[in-house]
Amino acid sequence: MPIADEIIQPTSSVPAAEPQLQQNGTTDLPELPPRPQIVEPSRKNTNGVVSGPVPHILDAATGLTPTLQKFRLDGKVAVVTGGARGLGFNMASALCECGVKGIAILDILQEHGDDAIALLHQKYGVAAAFYKIDVRDEEAVRDVIASVQIHLGSVDIMLCSAGIADSNIKAEEYPLDKFRRLIDINLTGSFICAQAAARAMIDKGTGGSIIFIASMSGHIVNYPQQQACYNASKAAVIQLMKSLAAEWAQYGIRCNSISPGYMDTALNRVPALEAQKTIWKSRTPQERLGNVDELNNTAVFLASEASSFMTGSDLLIDGGYCCW
Ligand SMILES: NC(=O)c1ccc[n+]([C@@H]2O[C@H](COP(=O)([O-])OP(=O)(O)OC[C@H]3O[C@@H](n4cnc5c(N)ncnc54)[C@H](O)[C@@H]3O)[C@@H](O)[C@H]2O)c1
Repeated sequence: MPIADEIIQPTSSVPAAEPQLQQNGTTDLPELPPRPQIVEPSRKNTNGVVSGPVPHILDAATGLTPTLQKFRLDGKVAVVTGGARGLGFNMASALCECGVKGIAILDILQEHGDDAIALLHQKYGVAAAFYKIDVRDEEAVRDVIASVQIHLGSVDIMLCSAGIADSNIKAEEYPLDKFRRLIDINLTGSFICAQAAARAMIDKGTGGSIIFIASMSGHIVNYPQQQACYNASKAAVIQLMKSLAAEWAQYGIRCNSISPGYMDTALNRVPALEAQKTIWKSRTPQERLGNVDELNNTAVFLASEASSFMTGSDLLIDGGYCCW
């Protein structure tokens, strides 16, 4: 039995167990695990770092691995409500970046909408159309979906991002007309658009993905601002999404939602909210607001085959706000 200072360190990268010290000062060597068989990577760059995927598994057309390939949206057509600016516009850009062949933006803001489609077409080469409509207008939405089918070919992805927020209104003072308006835009408007898209998807028989933009306010009550109606509207959007997911799975239509926390968009860039932002950040584990493009990857994931077995789910993207 060798003594402790004669131990030869194993050449394997597997750490050896600490030798056990015996009463008489000698050590009892543990049996070393067999040296693992390591097959060295065949792809190394000049610095010796493994780089790039294995060439033979890459898709011939896109050069992507099978997993990354599932995030592609080639040949799809997307409709984005509230896509003239903010989170909707950023998510629309991400869908274009990932290959949609056509995109329709639905919004009430004419100028922003015109700019949005010009930019999307110029930057990504997609066919892009802007429709100035209010999501509460059922007939107009129906006409737009018909027009998208004719001019862009199909409706494969519907992303409902149009929404408004009323903050700092005490519930006991909330004017009913304001309450009804918000519910009509955030909830009924989302349903009108989802329903019109689903009808087109059912008719075509190819299914699709419907993504709702809910909010963490559908899960928690925001502090310190009073916004009972907004919170209720977003909770309802999540439950609507789940109900539609259950009903429309038979048609190959998947419904999911994204629930953002506080995001740095025009919706929150109002003087009345400035002081409250400090409180919001202090209650967010990541201590900041989300950037305007930080829903993009999730939107692409939900729109694409990458989330093919996912329906009826809500994804919180809130910097950890709902953890506390
Ligand atoms: N910004 C945030 O912190 C935050 C957090 C959680 C959820 N959300 C949700 O994300 C979505 C997008 O918000 P945003 O921050 O990008 O706000 P935004 O105001 O920048 O964008 C909303 C878009 O919806 C459009 N819109 C509003 N009412 C409409 C109507 N009746 N018909 C058609 N279009 C209409 C607006 O013109 C605007 O372009 C909203 O549903 C919002 O509730 C935002």
